[in-house]
Amino acid sequence: MTVETLRWRNNQLEMIDQRCLPSVVQYLSYSDAQTVADGIQKMVVRGAPAIGVAAAYGIALEAQKYVLLNGADFHKRMAQAFKVLAASRPTAVNLFWALNRMRDRLSDAAAQTETVSLARLLLDEAHAIYHEDIEINKTMGAFGASILEDGMCVLTHCNAGALATAGHGTALGVIRSAVTAGKKITVFADETRPFLQGARLTAWELSEDGIDTTLITDNMSGHFMKSGAIDAVIVGTDRVAANGDVANKIGTYMVAVLAKEHDIPFYVACPLSTIDLSIPSGDDIPIEERSSNEVTGYGDVRWAPKNIQVRNPSFDVTPARLVTALITEKGIVYSPSDNKLKALY
Ligand code: MRU
Repeated sequence: MTVETLRWRNNQLEMIDQRCLPSVVQYLSYSDAQTVADGIQKMVVRGAPAIGVAAAYGIALEAQKYVLLNGADFHKRMAQAFKVLAASRPTAVNLFWALNRMRDRLSDAAAQTETVSLARLLLDEAHAIYHEDIEINKTMGAFGASILEDGMCVLTHCNAGALATAGHGTALGVIRSAVTAGKKITVFADETRPFLQGARLTAWELSEDGIDTTLITDNMSGHFMKSGAIDAVIVGTDRVAANGDVANKIGTYMVAVLAKEHDIPFYVACPLSTIDLSIPSGDDIPIEERSSNEVTGYGDVRWAPKNIQVRNPSFDVTPARLVTALITEKGIVYSPSDNKLKALY
């Protein structure tokens, strides 16, 4: 996959505008924390690991801007940047993980370093987070590929691919790694109402890679599981609680229940940066509620009556008991539980 979700060019962050894919491939440029936070909130960049990487660059950009403007109150300005980015989206814990890592880097060096060097350190840290994400996805991909058999058909929901990460992907990274290892894997992609990450992003990035992909609407997955077309489900996640409950794109819970009913393994590809041991169970995971416009239409097209009441929770929680295994960069965790997750650290 050659698409770059995020890239560093001319001392700016460029992000592919995921709202326009697949019709238009265009990059937007970002030069400070506020504009990166807007890009995250408005879904220019989305997917838990990609949001974390973007936020890290948002912090680096803010420090760089300060140095260029030669302004005052560096630490006050940086504190504001952390706040603005942390408020962009609530569910994906990778956002807070990346901000904490940037905050630690800053406070480790703050006492003995000039602001110009601090800006450089922060940029280096953002680059490190970016490159580590790709390496982690490849490691996870190799573990995951070992449990996919040649000839399997895998169902996925939302987009947990290269577009949701710095590259390679988590759930789609597993599929990519299996295909690269010479296995014939076919994919069913749920369209993923309401924002259509499956139809627009997963279908696009997998077919660009020549992976055999069939697009279905979300309400078709039960039918195809019952008819024996699906051998396994693999999804990504935005946050895993200490007990192994998994928050992911709305509709994932429904897929997990269906998989259980049909005795189909339900795998979750999950870098350690997505596990939140501070949250005991999925009940405590904050679920983002997004604009009603995402449900009443898409782009300029409206199909629902004006003023209709709408609910739009962007994520749901799948209880750990429905998860066959988490695929992490430290290996595969079958029947995830408190003790097994703690042992990963
Ligand atoms: O609202 P989104 O598009 O950011 O939601 C993305 C998902 O739910 C993904 O499945 C999740 O972030 C894992 S991405 C590797």
